[in-house]
Amino acid sequence: MTDPARPRLVVLVSGSGTNLQALLDAAADPAYGADVVAVGADRAGIEGLARAERAGVPTFVERVGDHASRADWDAALTAAVAAHQPDLVVLAGFMKLVGPAFLAAFGGRTLNTHPALSPSFPGMHGPADALAYGVKVTGCTLFVVDEGVDTGVIVEQAVVRVEDDDDVESLHERIKTAERSMLVEQVGRLAREGFRVEGRRLLVG
Ligand code: GRF
Repeated sequence: MTDPARPRLVVLVSGSGTNLQALLDAAADPAYGADVVAVGADRAGIEGLARAERAGVPTFVERVGDHASRADWDAALTAAVAAHQPDLVVLAGFMKLVGPAFLAAFGGRTLNTHPALSPSFPGMHGPADALAYGVKVTGCTLFVVDEGVDTGVIVEQAVVRVEDDDDVESLHERIKTAERSMLVEQVGRLAREGFRVEGRRLLVG
């Protein structure tokens, strides 16, 4: 059940959806102050969509391959998200870059989480790249999506220690634990208090 007075979150996923689950669990508490009103994906049959369905949240899928061009996909994704009238859009493990139409509609109010400490290790392989480089700490970054790859204004970061016996999987799992806490805490804070961006800084309230 969604409360019309509360900020509306649309969450986009591509995979297992553990970050989405953390948001769904948090939003089940009325004190959280925001509702997940829809979950979208760029592929069907993923656990992230199943998590939404189990929570009774509407879902939609827009696959790049079902559209004549990337621009058409971007427009369709934008329309699908807009239909749910979000206050905030959260990319939680959404493995596609959104395009110009999406940013025109939702720029400045779309957040993404990246499993590395920006500006280090942008792109699809943050944990593997951190491990390969040999850094002793890495972590996760929540940021406001812009046209770059993991380049947007930073909302929050959390630090995770790299252990000597880590492999990519163990490191990524430890990062994801930190990522879920950060995402829940910060999305709730931004939804409840509002925010604005000045230069490279995000100001809450
Ligand atoms: C997260 O680490 C996210 O930052 C990355 O993919 C992972 C998604 O995990 N892009 P999940 O689907 O939320 O479990």
